[in-house]
Order: sequence, then structure tokens, then C-alpha cells
Amino acid sequence: MAHGRITGWATHLPERILTNHDLAELVDTSDEWIRERSGIGARHVDGKVTEMSVEAGRDAMAMAGVDPSDVDLLLLATCTSDQQFPASASVVQNELGMSCGAIDLNAACSGFVYGLVTAMQFAEGGVETILVIGSDALSGITDWTDRGTCVLFGDGAGAVVIQRSASTPTLLGWDLMSDGSAASILTCEHGGKIFMNGKEVFRRAVLALEAAATNALERAGVTMDDITLVVPHQANIRIVDAALKRLGIPMDKAAMVLERTGNTSAASIPLAFVDALDKGRVEPGDLVLMVGFGAGMSSAAAVVRWDPPGA
Ligand code: UT7
Repeated sequence: MAHGRITGWATHLPERILTNHDLAELVDTSDEWIRERSGIGARHVDGKVTEMSVEAGRDAMAMAGVDPSDVDLLLLATCTSDQQFPASASVVQNELGMSCGAIDLNAACSGFVYGLVTAMQFAEGGVETILVIGSDALSGITDWTDRGTCVLFGDGAGAVVIQRSASTPTLLGWDLMSDGSAASILTCEHGGKIFMNGKEVFRRAVLALEAAATNALERAGVTMDDITLVVPHQANIRIVDAALKRLGIPMDKAAMVLERTGNTSAASIPLAFVDALDKGRVEPGDLVLMVGFGAGMSSAAAVVRWDPPGA
């Protein structure tokens, strides 16, 4: 039986960069405060979900050697679709020249892992080629007068191609969860701006990361020691630090791009993962733990055995 594996990957960030110093001219904040409380130094802004997705998706397919006409399904994880409908996935599908089903999937910052886990189930079910994209443009829904939120968010996209070509499973364990009772602590109404109770999100995020990671590892039948690389949602360095401490994972196992991207929601995990791949931090056979949390409150984790083509 064939299993899904990742055969191509790429990311995209919009051109315009906003530094902490730029923000200090907009609101009462400082580079020092933002770095110390979040670990963020800069973020990319003015992105459009469909444009960023097209760029990342095209490059991921080129890397996989997959023609757009061969893609059987597009899953686009986003909570900032360019329009209420049609789905941004439909726009991206058309621009990339694909002929297949196209779905927007909204699990906020957990979206990419939700998409990856979903795609792997389709692959197990017989679908040959799937494009999964995590893409968000939070700068468009940020209240640039609220220093409690505007320093955190940015835009970006990351994409992976999944092909049904592995002889052994690559997704070893996963956990998807949502606690809708906490929906009101991080929310954005149609046409509105992000509202966040930062302290409460922080507190719950640490617990959600721990629970999601623990469940996925248990289902994979592996322990923290077996994991080579952890790819956490890039929201706040202190959240990652606290969660990894509780899990007993050293910080140097974490893939981090937060300092230069800020929190890019569904794009954050693929951005950090692809950065780690570019740096040669993962060898074939290594186990990677991806773990995220977000509005909902959603959380998601996946344990993946790295099995690139040609390995
Ligand atoms: O994908 C999920 C998305 N969200 C998150 O993961 C966010 C989770 N929460 C957080 O990351 C943190 O709660 C924040 C970074 C948002 C805030 O950090 P904090 O350590 O919880 O700070 P705080 O809210 O307790 O604020 C401490 C002080 C307050 O001043 P007073 O009341 O002590 O005088 C704030 O008004 O810092 C002030 N403050 C700022 N000062 C300078 C809040 N934001 C800023 C700012 N610059 N940007």
C-alpha cells in the first residue's frame, strides 16, 4: 500500500517589511519591549492570501516536478481569505492552472497542520497528488492603533506537495483539537480587526501545545527523545520556551523564524519547517514534530518521518 509523503516545498513572504522601530513610530512601544516579550524583530506586511499562495504553491510544485494539471486536490489553510467567497483556494487553483477540488480550511494558526493531516488521509484513501498551502495576511485585519496586538502579526505563505509514493507511512501520529468554549479570547468579526486577550491566549497556548504534542507522540509510539526537530507555531518565543520546557525538549531542537516573520498564522509552521530544511537540520529518517495552536482555540500536532524523494 502506498502512503503520502512530502515531495516539494516552498514559501513566500511579501516584499514590505515593518521593523519594530517602524512600529514604535505608530504606537507607544519599543524594539526592546517587543523583542523581550515576544522574540519578534520584524514582520512582512501588505500580503494577499491568493498572491502569496500562488507563489509558494507554484514553487513547491516545480520542486516536486509536478505539473499543475496533475494535482488532484488543493487544501488552502487560511483565516484571512481575500474575500468571503469564493474560497481563496478556487482563485489559487485557477491562477495555477489546476483542475481539481479546492477547499479553504480555517483552523486559524493550527491550519497548516490540520491541512497536512487531512491531506495524508486523502492520500491513504487513494488520492495521488495534493497541494497543501498555509497562507495568511494578518496585516489586513490588524488594528494598527492597538499596541497589544499590532506588534505580533505578519503575512506569509508556505506550501507542500504530497504524493502517494512512500512505501511506509510518513505521518506516524497526529492530534487535532478545538476548545470552542474559549473562542471569544481571540477573534475577528467580518470586516473587523483582531481582538485578543493576550494573557489568556498565552496561558492556554502553553497547555494546548503540550497536550497536542503529547497525544501525537503517544499515537506515533515514540518519545520526545526520538524527535530531531520540533516545528512550533511561531507566536511568541516565551510560549515556545514554556511549552518545550514542560515537554522536556531542549530549545535548540526548535525551528524558529519568528524573529523575522512575526506570527503569520497558518504560514508559520511551513515557514519555520522550510527554513530548517534549507539549513540542513533534517536528515532522511529523522522524526519531526509539528505543533500549533490558535483561535478557536484550535490546536494540532503531527509526527512526520522525513522521507524526501530520492532518499
Ligand atoms: O497565534 C496565537 C496568537 N496570539 C498569541 O499567541 C499571543 C499570546 N500572548 C502574548 O504573546 C503576550 O500576552 C503579549 C506579547 C501579547 C503581551 O505580553 P505580556 O507579557 O502578557 O504583557 P502584558 O499584556 O501583561 O502587558 C505588560 C505591560 C502592560 O503595561 P502595564 O499595565 O504593566 O503598565 C501593557 O500595557 O506591557 C504593556 N504593553 C506594551 N508596552 C510596550 C502591552 N503591549 C505593549 C507594547 N509595547 N507593544
